[in-house]
Amino acid sequence: MAKIKRIGILTSGGDSPALNAAIRGVGKTALGFYGMEIVGFRDGFRGLVEDRRLKLDKAALSGILTVGGTILGTSRDKPHRMLIDGRTRDMTEVIVENFKKNDLTALVCLGGGGTQKNALYLAKAGLNVITLPKTIDNDVVLTDSTFGFATALDIATDAIDRLHSTAHSHHRIVVAEIMGHRAGWLTLGAGIAGGADVILIPEIPYDVQKIADAIKRRSRHGTNFSIVAVAEGAMSIDDARAFKSAEGKRERARTLHDKKEAKNELAALEARHTGNTLRLARQLEDLTHLESRVTILGYVQRGGTPSPADRLLATRLGSACADLINEGVFGVMVAARGDRTEPVPLEKVAGKRKIVSPDHPWVETARRVGTCLGD
Ligand code: F6P
Repeated sequence: MAKIKRIGILTSGGDSPALNAAIRGVGKTALGFYGMEIVGFRDGFRGLVEDRRLKLDKAALSGILTVGGTILGTSRDKPHRMLIDGRTRDMTEVIVENFKKNDLTALVCLGGGGTQKNALYLAKAGLNVITLPKTIDNDVVLTDSTFGFATALDIATDAIDRLHSTAHSHHRIVVAEIMGHRAGWLTLGAGIAGGADVILIPEIPYDVQKIADAIKRRSRHGTNFSIVAVAEGAMSIDDARAFKSAEGKRERARTLHDKKEAKNELAALEARHTGNTLRLARQLEDLTHLESRVTILGYVQRGGTPSPADRLLATRLGSACADLINEGVFGVMVAARGDRTEPVPLEKVAGKRKIVSPDHPWVETARRVGTCLGD
């Protein structure tokens, strides 16, 4: 009799809507369709190191499709650089041991860019690894989209819709900060869908004077309010130049001293960037003489019930993942490609980021409907 395949599964990185839908998609197909066993590891790679398990039987997989967050818990821990008792340690060997001890056929890692890198690392250490692309940022390469993005897009668009009526009533500028890390997909998508007057994304550095001019133009035409959708990673032309130069220094640094200096310079720039949205609102108030208010959407974008589009995507990818495990295909990310799914080698995904190209059709659309992009 053929040996029963046993799958381990974990969620890693920031939580995201539809993680549970994906766990269920993998689990139900593996369990019900292929007769495999499935076990969850808690809190990302740390749970695998500490061998903290959750049996994912039929009952555990039931009723989770619409639940936000992840029933497994998550963390941003990396296998090869994990804080253990106050010291950063490489825990790869422990993970390999626990993989064997649990008699796993495969390890499924659900996560964004960082998780793809960690998964490749474990694949190189000899484990059968397979990943799914999750993140509200939609910045994973070689997949049409990531699950979590559609829900966050709904939430951010709904927020812009709501901000419209209050901005309109008070004749104010409302600056809405939207997540997305270093990618502008969420802000651009929600900005277009919500009809923001200004959309600022990391990929297109802005000139604050040009934004103020666009707002003043609206005022001259009788519209005394504006909605500015700003990505958390968006920055002015000057700041973008400073970041680029510091990143260049870090890449070119050869000595320990130069590396440390470049790292400190980047850290200082990042610390300064934290208050960027508030600073931008103040600058716009000064330049336009219109009252400004800031709304930071933050973690609201990652919480709550996943949208039907995300549930569908996560279930499709999860189910396809179980198919691939059954076929013995490992070292890949299950990507969405049109109506189908496709295994993409982890080497092609890890360490890369899908950002908005300045001539992307969404950018063109925004410009055509008169949106100011700050450039
Ligand atoms: O990757 C998802 C994301 O929400 C980003 O948009 C954001 O920059 C980051 O995670 C926040 O991370 P954390 O949960 O660690 O604060």
